[in-house]
Amino acid sequence: MADRHMLYISMQIESGCHMDCIHIHGGKPLEGEAAVQGSKNGALVLVTATVLIKGQTVLYNCPQITDMDEMLGLLKTLGCRVKREGVAVIIDASSLHTSDCPAKQVRAMRSSVMLLGPLLGRCGSVSMERPGGCMIGKRPVDIHETALTCMGVRFRKDEKQILAETEGLKGAEICLPFPSVGATENVLMAAVLAEGTTVLYNAAQEPEITQLCHFLNEAGAKITGVGTNCLTISGVVKLQPVTFTVMPDRIVAGTYLLAGAATRGIVTVKNAPVRQLTSLLDVLRKMGAVVRYEENAVVLDAARAGKPVPYLRTAVYPGFPTDLQSMLAAVLTRAEGSSAIEETIFEDRFKIVRELQKMGADLKVENNRKLRIYGVTKLYPARLTACELRGGAALVVAALMAEGESKITGCDYIRRGYEDICRDLRLLGADVEEKRE
Ligand code: EPZ
Repeated sequence: MADRHMLYISMQIESGCHMDCIHIHGGKPLEGEAAVQGSKNGALVLVTATVLIKGQTVLYNCPQITDMDEMLGLLKTLGCRVKREGVAVIIDASSLHTSDCPAKQVRAMRSSVMLLGPLLGRCGSVSMERPGGCMIGKRPVDIHETALTCMGVRFRKDEKQILAETEGLKGAEICLPFPSVGATENVLMAAVLAEGTTVLYNAAQEPEITQLCHFLNEAGAKITGVGTNCLTISGVVKLQPVTFTVMPDRIVAGTYLLAGAATRGIVTVKNAPVRQLTSLLDVLRKMGAVVRYEENAVVLDAARAGKPVPYLRTAVYPGFPTDLQSMLAAVLTRAEGSSAIEETIFEDRFKIVRELQKMGADLKVENNRKLRIYGVTKLYPARLTACELRGGAALVVAALMAEGESKITGCDYIRRGYEDICRDLRLLGADVEEKRE
């Protein structure tokens, strides 16, 4: 996968087309306030759920990110009418006429796999290229397939494609071997129009799941146990179009809080979903930061947030989120002592170590699940390359800590999940700009 990334870089250079590059003059405490965009992972799954609804669904606070563009493009290809007005997205799936998802569009975005449930619920079949792994792990879909098979779905064995069909989805009792977010979402969306009742044990409890349940219930679904790891879904005949507001992005909020911690600054993050950030806020307090809540905002005073974190493990919600792991690792490279992070969700999520070492950070991967970080007093600016979304955001956080100018390429990865990280960090007082190289 790393070769594919290097190929991307060389193609960009050869074709003479410019690469976007984030320039950061770091080394000073951030001070300012920024608002949080709509949730990428929350919005993407709601968009896939609109496939189940004949009529116009309106989603407000949809983030303007490239993953959303890709997903809306895929729905258009399937025949849905899609309109975007700023942060509002209007989707009418009445005219959906195929469930064959084009390979190029599926390849562009892993989250296409969340169309399995809705397309089976709507059309009784689906074909899509098997989503490949990515820089953070193999990302198999076996849990999705086993769960949907319990509901009467037949998967044809194929290395390259997911080919699935059903004579009609049936309610079932399903216990997930691991509380997979995507598999929980697919079962939910397959079950809402299935015949009979589905009970899903060991369901994921991430806020994005709770939001999806509220969305589906507002559209007429019958889901109980919302917010727990046991969801009961009684199938209904049809869903009604709804108007719904996407929740704020907890990972983007966490990114900006960690940027404040990295620079020992004072940052205010407006409309942050604080109740979803408890695990991060607990860690930041242990590091010496002071957290204050204001009307619809959280204020972090990180002037004395230099303590190391002797041991932390990522975990499913409400544990420490894997999506914030790389950014915390970046912050801890300058802690006053040694820290350790165990990554329990993905098997290859320490890709930024080599880039941080270029800046003088002292850290090492003890095995593919454990990272040891020895705090240093200084990080040096460097030319850095992002190779995946959250790792890219972590390099931005690291560059904010280094006196002098750092340059980060691979901004396309960051744009997948952040509307405009440079705009938001400038509001927080950073000296950051995106330029064509
Ligand atoms: C969702 O991915 C998020 N993506 C991820 O955010 C997030 O990191 C992850 O949940 C965990 O919270 C979206 O919502 C679009 P999983 P998902 O299924 O659904 C393994 C970001 O940066 N697994 O809970 O793919 C899997 O390989 C992204 O916004 C199987 O083995 O996560 C992983 O190791 C990154 N078989 C673990 O479970 C399966 O069938 C967690 O995966 C499914 C998953």
